[in-house]
Amino acid sequence: MPITSVALIFGGRSAEHEISIISAKSIAGNIDKERYGVTPLYISHDGTWYLDGIARDILNFDLAAILRNASLEKASSTIKEMVRKAGQQPFDNDFRSAGIDVAFPALHGSYGEDGRIQGFLDTCGIPYTGCGVLASALTMDKALTKLCVADAGIDVAPSITFFTADYHTDPQTVAAGIEEKFAYPFFVKPSSLGSSVGISKVNHSGELSAALETACSLDTKVLVEKAITGREIEIAVLGNDNPVASVCGEIEPGSDFYDYQDKYIDNKAKLFIPARIPEELQEKVRRTALKAYKALGCRGMSRIDFFVDEKTGSVVLNEVNTIPGFTDISMFPMLMEASGTGFRELTDRLLQLALETGR
Ligand SMILES: Nc1ncnc2c1ncn2[C@@H]1O[C@H](COP(=O)(O)OP(=O)(O)O)[C@@H](O)[C@H]1O
Ligand SMILES: [Mg+2]
Repeated sequence: MPITSVALIFGGRSAEHEISIISAKSIAGNIDKERYGVTPLYISHDGTWYLDGIARDILNFDLAAILRNASLEKASSTIKEMVRKAGQQPFDNDFRSAGIDVAFPALHGSYGEDGRIQGFLDTCGIPYTGCGVLASALTMDKALTKLCVADAGIDVAPSITFFTADYHTDPQTVAAGIEEKFAYPFFVKPSSLGSSVGISKVNHSGELSAALETACSLDTKVLVEKAITGREIEIAVLGNDNPVASVCGEIEPGSDFYDYQDKYIDNKAKLFIPARIPEELQEKVRRTALKAYKALGCRGMSRIDFFVDEKTGSVVLNEVNTIPGFTDISMFPMLMEASGTGFRELTDRLLQLALETGR
């Protein structure tokens, strides 16, 4: 069988640049070399593309050690210095001449997970793993995701959405509207960010304006949401027209909620696979995940996150991640593994699903 040439795209212009490098490294290490040839394609912090050369050097570099032992800033500056020193000619985006058959975007957050790269690849005629433009763009926006899945009969947290511009025009009216609708505590979050950046749990009125200022400084649209009690349950879904849902995974945050510190720094959150909820409830979450996947038009893969309360049996959809974390210790590959699809088989399935879609 001829070898399929895969462009593994990583880095990118979002705040999750460094996490993307670590995800890509795991993916590269788990692609069957007998069937696929991997060409690393790195997008720098400022949006310049590099095919192979420095891209391969970054992929082979032990960035995780710097993140563990130093800081995100140090990791970021080290990578920037590597790129500067290499002085490599940027990629001209001629995928055909480069012999690329399919792309595997391992990009998280804005510009990578939100439909923009997907649209660009569509324009270039290159098939790619994961969701297409619409589902990627839709799920990047938490407010629109909720509207869409609620229409399909799935429960979501009661919320209100407002535009940052309106908040700046009249902050008092926005704050008063929030206090009228919600009892404390509630959550304030930017509509289109990830990694818990800009999210606050607001416990009393003294914390409200700081939470609103933070969220508004990061996004044009902000969501205020009732605090939902229950376990945080995540499901990996894989497939195109006939998707399958994994076993349920559970995250027990190490702090008050699953915030940035908890996700990437403290390492105190605990993972449970399978989740500590009864079998019938797990089945309900899996069914709901598949329903949401279809309602949103997802393809390839997604990780769908819920709040589940075993006392009431409620299953509330929180958010959908179309390019979830892919490190060796990330929930998505672990859930697939626990469901019988090892990492190597997972990358193969994703690439085959991409080629089958043949965008
Ligand atoms: N409505 C809510 N009720 C309870 N906890 C919430 C709520 N919204 C967010 N959280 C907490 O904040 C974390 C991050 O929020 P989330 O909406 O998943 O954003 P992100 O895209 O940054 O992961 C969640 O994992 C959860 O711990
Ligand atoms: Mg989340």
